[in-house]
Amino acid sequence: MSISHTRLDRFIGEHLQISRRDVRLMLAQRRISVDGQAVNEIGFIINKFSHVQLDGETLQNHQAYYVMLHKPVGVVSATVDAQHRTVIDLLSHPAKNELHIVGRLDLNTSGLVLLTNDSRWSERLMSPEHKVAKKYLVTVEHPISKEQERDYIDAFAKGMYFQYEDITTMPASLMMIDPHLLEVQLFEGKYHQIKRMFGRFQNPVIGLHRKSVGALELDAELAVGESRMLTSEEVSSIFN
Ligand code: URA
Repeated sequence: MSISHTRLDRFIGEHLQISRRDVRLMLAQRRISVDGQAVNEIGFIINKFSHVQLDGETLQNHQAYYVMLHKPVGVVSATVDAQHRTVIDLLSHPAKNELHIVGRLDLNTSGLVLLTNDSRWSERLMSPEHKVAKKYLVTVEHPISKEQERDYIDAFAKGMYFQYEDITTMPASLMMIDPHLLEVQLFEGKYHQIKRMFGRFQNPVIGLHRKSVGALELDAELAVGESRMLTSEEVSSIFN
C-alpha cells in the first residue's frame, strides 16, 4: 500500500478535465489553495489527505484517521474473519472500514494495536530502517533464574536464525521483571516472533501483551476492547 503523492497541476487537470495550461493559469491567478494556503508553484506535490480548493470550493478533502485499540485476547488482527471477532468489529468509528492494521498481534496476544487509513504513516512505522521499538510484556511457563537470564539476554541480543524464512532476527532486548514476567523490545515483527524466540529455550509463552509502539504507550484509561483516536501530537511523536 503506497500513498498517492501527485503533482497538484496534474490532480487539478485530471479532476476538472482541463489542460495543464489552464491549470497553470489558475495557479498564477492564485485561485487554488492547499490546506488553506494559496499555491502558485507548478510542481507543488499533494497527497491523498491534502485539502484542495478551487475558488474556495473543495475538490479533495480526505481525512486521515489514527486509532489506538486495546486488543483483547481472542480477537483477530484482520479486517474480516469468518470465525472470530476482528479488531475492526470492536471499533465504532464511521470510517472504520477504510482502516488498516499497523502491525498485527496474534489471536491470543493482547494490547496496543494501531489502525489508520494513512499508509505513509503505517509504512514508516513498519519499515525496519526506522527501527520503531515495540515493547511486550511476556509471561512464560517456566521461571527463569538469574543464571539463565544472561543466556536469554545474549540470545535475544545476538538474534536468532529462523530457518523457515531464512532470516536472523534483529537485536532485541529483554529485561526480567520477575522469574515469570519479562519485558521484551523488538524492532520488527516476524510471525509468532516472541513465542518462537522463547521456544528456543523450551519455555512456552503463556501470556503476551504489547504495551507500546515507538513513543506511544497503550493508554491506561482504555479498557480491554476500547479504542480512541490519536491526538496529532501522538501521531508525530511515535517516531521520537
Ligand atoms: N510475537 C508473537 O509471538 N506474537 C505476537 O502477537 C507479537 C509478537
